[in-house]
Amino acid sequence: MQLKLRRILVTGGAGYIGSHAALALLEAGCDVVVLDNLCNSSKESLARVAHLGGRALNFVLGDVRDSDLLRSIFADKEIDAVLHFAGLKSVGESVGNPLAYYDNNVSGTLKLCEAMSDAGVRKLVFSSSATVYGDPHEMPVSEATPTGSLTNPYGRSKLIVEQFLQDLAISDDRWSIAALRYFNPVGAHSSGLIGEDPGGIPNNLLPYISQVAVGKLDFLSVFGGDYSTRDGTGVRDYIHVLDLVHGHLCALDALQNRAGFNIWNLGTGRGYSVLEIISAFERASGRSIPYKIVPRRQGDIKECWADTAKALAELKWVAVRGLDEMMIDAWRWQSLNPNGYHKAPSRTDSVK
Ligand code: NAD
Ligand code: UFG
Repeated sequence: MQLKLRRILVTGGAGYIGSHAALALLEAGCDVVVLDNLCNSSKESLARVAHLGGRALNFVLGDVRDSDLLRSIFADKEIDAVLHFAGLKSVGESVGNPLAYYDNNVSGTLKLCEAMSDAGVRKLVFSSSATVYGDPHEMPVSEATPTGSLTNPYGRSKLIVEQFLQDLAISDDRWSIAALRYFNPVGAHSSGLIGEDPGGIPNNLLPYISQVAVGKLDFLSVFGGDYSTRDGTGVRDYIHVLDLVHGHLCALDALQNRAGFNIWNLGTGRGYSVLEIISAFERASGRSIPYKIVPRRQGDIKECWADTAKALAELKWVAVRGLDEMMIDAWRWQSLNPNGYHKAPSRTDSVK
């Protein structure tokens, strides 16, 4: 896909989804400026992005809450649009440290919007989450489904940002904003060179399964076997990270001719249970995944999958990669990089 918007600022571009987006932008012919404070990532991911993209990208080490730094980036780099991934994302951590989540996710986005407004850059794609739907009563979940009562600061931080972005777009019709509500991103680039590298013990299902498969963890705890789902375990809409980032390029493309505040679900429209994910991963990896069913995790919902019709109609976007490809790519990344980006050969020459 070729984009007319040429110079893109990617906040959080060293992270899991941001690094895949930075690569997709390089491949689409864009100039990429990454701003990341590396609080949950490493510069090695960007070295690999530049290697895969065959082109250098511009890396600024810094914090999205640093207004002076943002001002200098917008002054120097002639940015056309921003993909805003930077933020904290652990639901459990947000319960123990809410101020860090409101500061980073809410204040960070506020500072970014102020600097964008001052610089006259008014095209923004924001990483929101299906978590804003809370515990929905009906499946699939469409953008018209009411946002739910949220049980954790992480989810509230995403909803607060969506709400003030909507206010901003109403206040000034020169803004073009997309809030993309991700379902469950998984998988990795097919090269196996970039992927998800969680610090410590993973919270999310796929990184946990991957680390069991590679022998770093003994077994998976399946949180709840007594949900009213087809096998008793929780059901989610897992989406390949490459499909997800393609949705961002489609959103950027749409924002060229579309003002206001827009919400799009990014999911596949299909739900899989935890046990189905375990089986699919076993097929992909050839390894067995020992697991134990344990009590439900507090705050978890029974099921969630996307109604994808709005993104199809308005962005001409649809996820094309199936479950097996997600699992094969997740396994390739994990098996080639058992310690993530650590202890890896460095290719930092290509990051400026
Ligand atoms: P990630 O932690 O891998 O990436 C986030 C990046 O932002 C990291 O590189 C981190 O160092 C950087 N960062 C954090 N705070 C920063 C700050 N103040 N200034 C500059 N850089 C900062 O997470 P991810 O999975 O790539 O998620 C990206 C975005 O998507 C996040 O906003 C997250 O909330 C959202 N999201 C993720 C998921 C998911 O399951 N991965 C689901 C829904 C929404
Ligand atoms: N699960 C387990 N064992 C684990 C981890 C997860 O059984 O060790 C189960 C969960 O109970 C759930 C499913 O696997 O049924 C998926 O859990 P994840 O933690 O991978 O994902 P969640 O759906 O709970 O939440 C994720 C992100 C949120 C985001 C949400 C919607 O963590 O930030 O998707 O996008 F908001």
